[in-house]
Amino acid sequence: MNNLMRRAQNVQLWRKYCVKQYTTEAASASSPRGKPNYDEFIGGRQVQAQRSIVVQVSSEKSYSELYNYCSRFGAIVGAHHYCVRHDDDLHYILLEYSTAHEAAAAIDAGATNGELSGVPVRSPFLWFKAAPGKRGPKLAAIANNNNTSQQPLRDLLSVDGTRQLDQASLLSQLRGAASIEQQVQLLHEHTQLNDLGVRMRFLAALQVQQAISGMFPAAQAHPFGSSVNGFGKMGCDLDLILRFDRETGGRRHTDSEQPSRLIYHTKENLSNGRSQTQRHMECFGDMLHLFLPGVCHVRRILQARVPIIKYHHEHLNLEVDLSMSNLSGFYMSELLYMFGEIDPRVRPLTFSIRRWAQASGLTNPSPGRWISNFSLTCLVMYFLQQLRQPILPTIGALVKAADASDVRVTEDGINCTFGRDLERVGFQSRNTSSLSELLLQFFEFYSQFDFHNRAISLNEGRQLSKPDHSAMYIVNPLEQLLNVSKNVSLEECERLRIEVRNAAWILESEVENSSLPESERQEETWGLLNLFKHPEKAVIRPNMFFKPRMVEVSDLFEEKLLQQQQQSTTGPASAGGAEAAAAAPPVVYKNVSVRQQVQSIKAATRTELKQLRGSSSAAAAAAAPSHSASTKNRRSR
Ligand code: GTP
Ligand code: MG
Repeated sequence: MNNLMRRAQNVQLWRKYCVKQYTTEAASASSPRGKPNYDEFIGGRQVQAQRSIVVQVSSEKSYSELYNYCSRFGAIVGAHHYCVRHDDDLHYILLEYSTAHEAAAAIDAGATNGELSGVPVRSPFLWFKAAPGKRGPKLAAIANNNNTSQQPLRDLLSVDGTRQLDQASLLSQLRGAASIEQQVQLLHEHTQLNDLGVRMRFLAALQVQQAISGMFPAAQAHPFGSSVNGFGKMGCDLDLILRFDRETGGRRHTDSEQPSRLIYHTKENLSNGRSQTQRHMECFGDMLHLFLPGVCHVRRILQARVPIIKYHHEHLNLEVDLSMSNLSGFYMSELLYMFGEIDPRVRPLTFSIRRWAQASGLTNPSPGRWISNFSLTCLVMYFLQQLRQPILPTIGALVKAADASDVRVTEDGINCTFGRDLERVGFQSRNTSSLSELLLQFFEFYSQFDFHNRAISLNEGRQLSKPDHSAMYIVNPLEQLLNVSKNVSLEECERLRIEVRNAAWILESEVENSSLPESERQEETWGLLNLFKHPEKAVIRPNMFFKPRMVEVSDLFEEKLLQQQQQSTTGPASAGGAEAAAAAPPVVYKNVSVRQQVQSIKAATRTELKQLRGSSSAAAAAAAPSHSASTKNRRSR
């Protein structure tokens, strides 16, 4: 009973929080300090999504016609064009109205596509049909005549607004920079998730929310993770948490009102919390798959510690991970957002480190035994906390600064209370290091770090003794009995140590020689670029070939799947591996060319593994100065 009451209280807290933070127009206004806090940022974006629609058009040239047509529903305050590239380019225009009411009017005016047999669904994703029998320039004139509001046409705020800077242009920009410092800044500027990317992610969330709003009027789908914490790059996935509860259908009485005596009949849940969540997610997965426009490739990963539904949104060209029980992940995003806001060096530095990790094959978009972007970000945050002149406060300091308005406890009892008001936290850094100095210090710090014996605590901003034998131990800031980097294998941890050491050596000599004449800069690979030596190289991992990717996603969490992974990585020498190999069905290739490709990838993997083993033993044996000298000699200049 106590448990039930606690859950109910927490649900109330969550609702109060959501209602207060997310549904008022006031939330979109920035705080008096000028910088929006996380709640204001999220709230503003949610309101913006409610004012927006996405319309598929034949090209950006349809914009003026669309604008004229859609102006009849209200005042359009902004429009962005983007492309989704398949075999053909698909064009979309995101229109933002001045109010949610106007956007709703545009959506409500939509008609169903009589040529298709699907179930018609109301959503902000629409398609602009050609006017019957009219083509070409005449159409614009007709549309203009139909325009009752006669709003002057506003320019598109972006054309092809989700196109990422291609590798060659990015490299050229970085080559032309004046300093490593500027390279770090440019990398951040050119690769961070842009405004349109954020808008699109909040629309994806709104679509899910609106799809279930009939039965769950107070349900909220919240983006979290890199889409909103300020560490996301263009094209990053969308992490979504969906919250709904059986009480949310009720109108909430004010303090002066008597509680309602009319109580909704409700179906009782007989199963336990976890299997109930799994069952609900299964049901939502089906609903998304069957009815929601744009949603495709729905995959259910329900056995994971945090069950998720993965899907692709084809109108937004977006990968989505939807969960219903990961509130601590949501609050963790808030912590990272705050860290990014505290000091302007935090995000550019993290972007460079993430890019370096990707280029050196330390991180990989699919989960596995390697370090995740999130754990890597924790390493950066800890590094910034432990400096002699810290750039970030400890989480403990944030917790101390909390007041009653900061109390957040998830329904499974995880305390996510910390001070949200940075002024009250009152942290001021006296550290004046440049970005290139910090980058070098980061690599030097982790090349010395004793991962064998020490754990990292962002809560205390110091090292602790490692409580178990995990290869890498980062105390989970919000669930301090858990290890964020539990998945990292000994081999991957060792690789990280080798790569940070290499990076330190490379960067050290780059900093020493960073006075390259301007005329030579464009031609030379210098500075930060020498850290990204294997740009975007497809990372080949041994176990990619032995089991399907869906299993890799889940095996982070599930014992059964973990055993499968162990079998596949122990190889044919072990009895288990031999059995697994014997039991495995023969691989059928689509054609000879695919078989040849797989074989050559396998051969490349074997070579890379050999090199890896070689470099790992060489690095262990070699003394740092001699290796440093040889690395310097290998440099291109
Ligand atoms: P990318 O998706 O790689 O761009 O980065 P991401 O930060 O979005 O990471 P990911 O999608 O793996 O996780 C989404 C968010 O969940 C993270 O930003 C964290 O806020 C949170 N998260 C992930 N792992 C943990 C964990 O072990 N503990 C907690 N408390 N939160 C986590
Ligand atoms: Mg993510």
